[in-house]
Order: sequence, then C-alpha cells, then structure tokens
Amino acid sequence: MEKLKRELLALLEWYREAGILYYFNNPNDQKVSLKNKKDKSYNQLQQSEIKGNETNDKIKLLEEVKIEALNCKGCELYKSRKNLVFGEGNVNAKIMFVGEAPGREEDEQGRPFVGQAGQLLTKLIEFVGWRREDVYIANVLKCRPPDNRNPLPAEIEACKNFLFKQIEIINPKIICTLGTFSTQLLSGNNKIQISKVRGHLLTGWKNYRIFPTFHPSYLLRNPNSKKIAIEDFKRLKELAESLD
Ligand code: URA
Repeated sequence: MEKLKRELLALLEWYREAGILYYFNNPNDQKVSLKNKKDKSYNQLQQSEIKGNETNDKIKLLEEVKIEALNCKGCELYKSRKNLVFGEGNVNAKIMFVGEAPGREEDEQGRPFVGQAGQLLTKLIEFVGWRREDVYIANVLKCRPPDNRNPLPAEIEACKNFLFKQIEIINPKIICTLGTFSTQLLSGNNKIQISKVRGHLLTGWKNYRIFPTFHPSYLLRNPNSKKIAIEDFKRLKELAESLD
C-alpha cells in the first residue's frame, strides 16, 4: 500500500512538472485557477472602464470647446444669434457629418440640422441603416448668418478652430462634408467643386478621410440629385464598414 501511494505521488508529481495542474485537488492550485479567472474579469472590467473614461474625457473636452465657442467674439455673428449651434451626436462616432452653418430652425433650437434640410439628412442617414444618434453632426459655423446668407471667409476663419477641435476629439474614421463650404475647408482647397468630387474619398485636413456629398439644402432645391445622394450614402456606408 505504501509503495502504491509513493508511485501514485510520483506520477502526480510528474503530471505537475508536465504542467498538468488540475489532477491535483490542491487548494493552492485552485487558487491559481480562481486567480486567473478573477484576473480575466478584472481585465475586462478595466477595459470597459478605460472605454467609459475615454467617452467621459471626450464629453468633457467637447464641453470645454463649446464654452470657448459660447464666449467667442471672433466675428459679428454672436450678436445676432439666438443660440450657439455647437454640434451633437455620438462622441465615438466613426462618421462625422459637417454642414455649412445653422439656419433659422437650428438657431431656434441650438441643434444642427433640425429644419427641412436636417430632416432630409436624417432620412439619408437612416436609409443606409444608421441612426442619427450613431453619428456626430456639426457645421463649419456655429452661429447663424443673417437671412441664411453664405458664410463669409472671415467668419470661416474665425470659427474653423472649433470644428478642428471637435474633429480631433471625436476622431472619426470618415468625415462626410455636406456641400461646398465644409468640403473646401476640410480638403484645404478653396477652388474645389462639389459636383466634381462628390462620392469620392479624399485626404483632407490632418490626413482625415473626407467624403464630400451634396448639401441637403441643394437636394431640396434639386430633387433630381437625390438619387445621386442616395448612391453617395450607400458608398459611404460601404467605406465605413470596410474600415471596421
Ligand atoms: N444647413 C447646414 O449647413 N447646417 C445646419 O445645421 C442646417 C442647415
């Protein structure tokens, strides 16, 4: 019996040396296995905390930029606006849409793309299977130009850093520029024609991927171009998925 016990212990020792731990009903081994499991869930917990912290950091940084924009007197538009229209959406969005400037409804509500053009933009976003809450939406100008006139070069110059900061904080995979003004600003080419570059992926400011398409207000005035815009949005979705 003693001999059998010694042989069995020797065999178990051999297993242990070979790394086969769980033949042992040994409290220490159990500790090892529990510790591993604990470490794993602890790591997972840490990962989600990191993601949560990143999101909170982004929200905080965007809030700081918004406060800066609220206090900005870089051009005259702060005098006539009702509300600053900073931008909204998912701070971790892969896709960011950039329009031109707030219109009447946006100025009233302090939110981007909530008027007629905004409803069309939302429809296009949803048509390809996204939700408005999945993306981030902003404009080149944060204050409404009177009578919806085009932004002036000096206004764009005064306001562009707020957009640049938003882009760097959100860090989207693709920026879909809506219309001429955002396309010119973010491509760095103020001669670029939207009709020539729409539907194509360009490399723009700080090497961000830019995907220009028609501005929804243009589509409201030119409904025949909606078909083209739908194709652009489908392509945008494909591009976004290829970058997952
Ligand atoms: N047009 C824009 O460019 N931006 C808006 O927010 C609304 C209309």
